[in-house]
Amino acid sequence: MSVTTPDPASRWPWLIQGGMGISISDWRLARSVARAGQLGVVSGTAIDTVFARRLQKHGVDERLRAVLARFPVPAIVDDVLHQFTSVRRRATGAYRTPVMLTHQSKQRSIDLLVLAAFVEVALAKSGHGGLVGINLLTKVQLPTVALLCGAMIAGVDFVLMGAGVPTHIPGILERLRQGFGVSTPLDMVDVTVRDAPVVHFDPSPYLDGAPSLTRPRFLGIISSNVLAAALIKRSDGPVDGFVVERPVAGGHNAPPRGALTLDDHDSPIYGPRDEVDFSCLAELGRPFWIAGGVTSPTHVRAALNLGATGVQVGTLFAYCDESGMDPVLRHRVITAVANGPVEVRTSVRASSTGYPFKVVSVAGTIGDPSVYQERERRCDLGYLREAYAEPDGTIGYRCAAEPVEAYVRKGGDASRTVDATCLCNGLMATCGLGQVRANGNVEPPIITSGDCLNEIRTLVDGRTGYHATDVIRHLRSGLDPVMTSQ
Ligand SMILES: Cc1cc2nc3c(=O)[nH]c(=O)nc-3n(C[C@H](O)[C@H](O)[C@H](O)COP(=O)(O)O)c2cc1C
Repeated sequence: MSVTTPDPASRWPWLIQGGMGISISDWRLARSVARAGQLGVVSGTAIDTVFARRLQKHGVDERLRAVLARFPVPAIVDDVLHQFTSVRRRATGAYRTPVMLTHQSKQRSIDLLVLAAFVEVALAKSGHGGLVGINLLTKVQLPTVALLCGAMIAGVDFVLMGAGVPTHIPGILERLRQGFGVSTPLDMVDVTVRDAPVVHFDPSPYLDGAPSLTRPRFLGIISSNVLAAALIKRSDGPVDGFVVERPVAGGHNAPPRGALTLDDHDSPIYGPRDEVDFSCLAELGRPFWIAGGVTSPTHVRAALNLGATGVQVGTLFAYCDESGMDPVLRHRVITAVANGPVEVRTSVRASSTGYPFKVVSVAGTIGDPSVYQERERRCDLGYLREAYAEPDGTIGYRCAAEPVEAYVRKGGDASRTVDATCLCNGLMATCGLGQVRANGNVEPPIITSGDCLNEIRTLVDGRTGYHATDVIRHLRSGLDPVMTSQ
């Protein structure tokens, strides 16, 4: 497939390759999709740890060196390389991991966030003129502004955010564009915004010598037209469009509206209230893309008929050769799918965020109950921790997947710890960067995918794998003839 260079000002892509954390949609996948003329999206989730571990695992190659040379502050590059490449890691040894973030993170942690996001976006944008976006989870609050700054220095074209209501992001993008500092109140459980500490980020140390920043387009990931309207109304800046994610999509899902009811597999039941009113959505006058279960040209055609500008696809890309998923796991799933249907469950307990989360049932992963039971509970990456106030007003952090005793001691509700999964360590293992523990055990992976997982069979088609461009080619025939020339 030839490399095309869309003019961002004149048209929208018909296909968005969905952001998939942790590092499933890495720079390689996003670059392949962008080179093919569609929107490639890197995941920014935990990208500081990903970058630190990649440095320890792979060192610095020529491509990375060229990108690092473009970062405006060479002293930060030197410091990060010193921290993570100066001591050689044994192939089976533990990774040195960045300190967990708090509202009082050290400047070094912030520097690493800015550099890591810059590198991921710059690598994804290298060698073509296509569009690259970054995906962040609204719930993961502490790293967000620094990551946006790094991504903008690298010229990111789109920011896509869901898993929460990102009303404050458009304003942040505008302030960063102007080089202004950003102050955000920390979201805390049981504390009103007025009493919450404010987290400050100053972009000026990174902007000396950097090209002037451009505001990327902002797409809110939403599950209902009501939420889309609220996002436009309540945001502190422009919302350029929406990704409408249906409950069949991979990753986290929006909970059903109204009272939560579960089926026989403990998965949430969605009903008519969860249906999106696409004519109301279209009346908002913004482009939108439909996500969740898009696996065929017919699905693309159906989305366009509902007024969508295009579709966002995750699962089909998660198993292509350019995906950041550990190749051993990727092939295990591809083989399992070839041999019969693989189950995908929607768990309301697995994610400590409280959002439903899709888990693939594959042997050797956390989706296997015996692997879950055997894993020692431990929280040392901490991206999904929630901030809470101690009785004396001190700010603490807790996660329902940490050791039960610690969570309860911090005021957490013990019932939330049941079946809670350490998504940070699990997903880090899925992209091949799992922590090695003192006893030599590697953290077990957890795989998420959409309900449509078994549809990858069409693309595999008796082979051992397929490319990102095969996904695009496969879906493309659902477009109008006039659009297929794009
Ligand atoms: C492995 C995987 C990880 C995902 N991680 C994220 C994420 O970090 N942030 C996000 O907004 N969506 C995430 N998603 C959702 C995708 O961006 C996309 O919207 C979804 O996969 C579309 O539905 P589909 O899986 O049926 O194609 C993830 C999906 C998958 C399959």
